[in-house]
This record gives sequence, C-alpha cells and structure tokens, in this order.
Amino acid sequence: MLLQVRAAALLVGLAAWCGSDVSPPTIDVNLDDDPQVRWAPLFQVFDTDFLKRTAQEMIDAAIPKWIHEALISVMNVSEPFILPEPYGEELRGMSSHFGSNLSDIVMLNFAYEANAFCTSIVAQDKHGNVYHGRNLDYRYPALRKVTLNVNFWKNGKIAYTGTTFAGYVGLWTGQSPYKFTVSGDQRGKHHWWDLWKTIVSAFLMKRTPVSWLARETLEKAEDFQDAVLRLSKVPIIADVYYIVGGARPGEGAVITRNRAGPADIWPLEPLSGGWFRVETNFDHWVPNTGKDKRREAAEKAMNATGQEHVNMDSLFQVLSLFPVCNWKTVYTTTMSAASPENYTTLIRPPACHVTQQPEVLPAVRKVERMSQFFTP
Ligand SMILES: *[C@@H]1O[C@H](CO)[C@@H](O)[C@H](O)[C@H]1NC(C)=O
Ligand SMILES: *[C@@H]1O[C@H](CO)[C@@H](O)[C@H](O)[C@H]1NC(C)=O
Ligand SMILES: *[C@@H]1O[C@H](CO)[C@@H](O)[C@H](O)[C@H]1NC(C)=O
Ligand SMILES: *[C@@H]1O[C@H](CO)[C@@H](O)[C@H](O)[C@H]1NC(C)=O
Repeated sequence: MLLQVRAAALLVGLAAWCGSDVSPPTIDVNLDDDPQVRWAPLFQVFDTDFLKRTAQEMIDAAIPKWIHEALISVMNVSEPFILPEPYGEELRGMSSHFGSNLSDIVMLNFAYEANAFCTSIVAQDKHGNVYHGRNLDYRYPALRKVTLNVNFWKNGKIAYTGTTFAGYVGLWTGQSPYKFTVSGDQRGKHHWWDLWKTIVSAFLMKRTPVSWLARETLEKAEDFQDAVLRLSKVPIIADVYYIVGGARPGEGAVITRNRAGPADIWPLEPLSGGWFRVETNFDHWVPNTGKDKRREAAEKAMNATGQEHVNMDSLFQVLSLFPVCNWKTVYTTTMSAASPENYTTLIRPPACHVTQQPEVLPAVRKVERMSQFFTP
C-alpha cells in the first residue's frame, strides 16, 4: 500500500516536472456493500493523513469560519434527519476512516459543491456517434492530487462510473454504460453567501446537492430520456447546467437548471446544423461580453474540427486549447455512452495551456482503458 502511495506521489511529482497529463487512480466501490464501509478502497490508494491535510486546506480556503461553526450546531441538533441515504451513511463511514467529525466531512462536500467552473461539450459525428467531454476548472490546485475515477459495482457489474475527489460522495462527471453520460457545470458566479443559502436549502428544505442528483440519476435512470427528465425536475440546492449525452443518434442536451426546475433545455439538432453544444458557466442564449473567452474558443475549435472529424481524441484536443484549458483546469474527461470502455480522465498539468500543443497531444496522451470490465 505504501508503495502504491509513493508511486502515486511520484507520478504527481512527475506531472509537475515535465508538464504532461497523467491518469488518476481508479477504485472500485461496491454498492452491494454497506454504505458505511463501501468507500474503504479509497484508503488503500490514498494516504489518510494526506487526505486529512488536504481536506482541512479545502475547508479553510473555501468555507468561512462562522458557516462552519453554524453547521456544527445545526448538525448537532438535527443530524439524524438531514442527510439522505445512502449519502449520510457513506459520509459517516468516511468520517470514521478519517478520524474526524462528521461535520468536517459534510463541510468538505459542500466546499467541493461550490466553485466548479467548467467547460462541457456534447457532439455527434456524421455516423451518429455521440461524444461528451468536459474540463473541470477549480480554484484549488491541491485537487489534482485527490482526483480519482470510481467504478460503482452492483450485482457483479459496473452500474456506473464517475470522476470525483477523495472524500466527495457526489459526482460532477459520470457514465451509465450503454445508456448516457452526464456532467455538471456551475451556473453563474457563486459567493460565500450563496454557500450559506445552499446549506440552508439542503438541510432545512431538504433539497439535493447538484452532484448527488447527478449520481442518483446515474444509479437509477433507465436511459437518456429518463436521465434528462430526472435532471430537469428534481429540486436542487443551486443553479447548475447538466450536460447529457446518450447512446443513440440525436441524444444530447444541455439542461439549464433553476433550483426548483428547468429554465431551458437545449438539445442537439444534428439535422439542422446543431451537431455540438458547448456549455461553460453562462446561459447559452446570452451573448458573452465578459473577458472569459472559453465558450467562443471552444466553439471556434469545434467549428474548425468539423463534424466529419469529431471523435474522442479531437474532442480532447479542443478541451486542451487555451483558454478552454487554463491554469485552473484540474482534469479532462472524454466519454461516449455507447463505448463505455473508452471513458478516459486525465489530470492536467498546472500549465496546461503553455505546454500542450494540440499537434503533439496524441503522443503524450496516456490512456487508461477499462475494456477488461466491459468484455461482452
Ligand atoms: C450538542 O448538543 C448537546 C446537547 O443538546 C450540547 O450539550 C452540546 O454543547 C452541543 N455541541 C455543540 C458543538 O453544539
Ligand atoms: C469534533 O468536534 C468537537 C466539537 O466541536 C471538537 O471538540 C473536537 O475536537 C472535534 N474532533 C475532531 C477529531 O476534529
Ligand atoms: C461556428 O459555426 C456556426 C455555424 O456556421 C456559426 O454560427 C458560429 O458563429 C461559429 N462560432 C464561432 C465561435 O466561430
Ligand atoms: C473506443 O476505443 C477503441 C480502441 O481505441 C476505438 O477503436 C473506438 O473507435 C473507440 N470508440 C469511440 C466511440 O471513440
């Protein structure tokens, strides 16, 4: 185990040194196990003290002290009632592994819930294959070291796969094999007072954190259409964009969410020129006049790629161009629900946009294939 940790540390060190992409570790979480113990594999891959230190840094950086203290007293009064299952039990199990208070782990999960700036793209090629890619941009560079892929197993099969951060039970990125893929992008700028509103609506109004709804949808939705319906209507704690790709032609959409329900649904329209959709952190119908040029850059690069050349690799290249990929980009995931074995996440070096030239990408790309899990 120590060896593994050292090897992982070495890899991360190497990434900073030579500026190339690395695959994060992948763990297996068995949903047939009791929620309190199912995250145990996390602690075989990551050093507990390292995780504790990183969690504390995240909480200190992201959460004002008074909110933390207020949460401790709210939870002290009503904890048994406020955490929906299985997340409550998973978080309880996690906190006993960490040897810390439940409120700290809950705080950590809310810290991750805020500040997710991102780019997501869903696209369809000329043959009707649907591809989905995303960059997760985050203010905290430490997250590169706690990013991981998780295969969630049920009845001896992978029920769904996701990419997340150690200690975080929600998913911003995931895939339900042969059904759909989903990513979440924060909608608009959030401030610390939004965080407080978020916590109040989670605990007092019993609304679902956005990343929990994504995971719940991966677990329960029957197909693309069912996923779009669930992601559109279930009340959540914050505004967000959900980007969904399906396994069949035409299945792709950007859902713009208000807390209570959908504000807009923007589907792929491959027959009338809408073969891709780019979503960053602005409503797609609003012209962007700010200095954030990620959306324009991604659209321009998609136009330049063309529908005949879009695939997982060219999508990855679009997601590697500055400023789509920038100093805050923690990871890039490319996926296609119809080919679940090709689900790929790479951790981006801090100077992604300086060191990555698109023409050299395929050579430096290290891909961890998961085909062994999906043999027919
Ligand atoms: C938690 O509640 C108990 C009993 O209601 C009280 O004695 C204790 O001071 C509270 N602890 C905190 C940290 O609020
Ligand atoms: C848990 O919370 C209590 C009350 O706030 C505090 O006294 C204690 O030090 C905390 N324990 C850990 C391990 O953080
Ligand atoms: C991409 O192409 C479409 C269709 O030709 C065009 O409407 C759009 O303005 C282009 N976007 C950019 C950023 O060049
Ligand atoms: C998945 O990966 C295989 C092997 O590299 C490749 O042949 C296939 O085209 C990929 N599928 C998609 C949808 O990208």
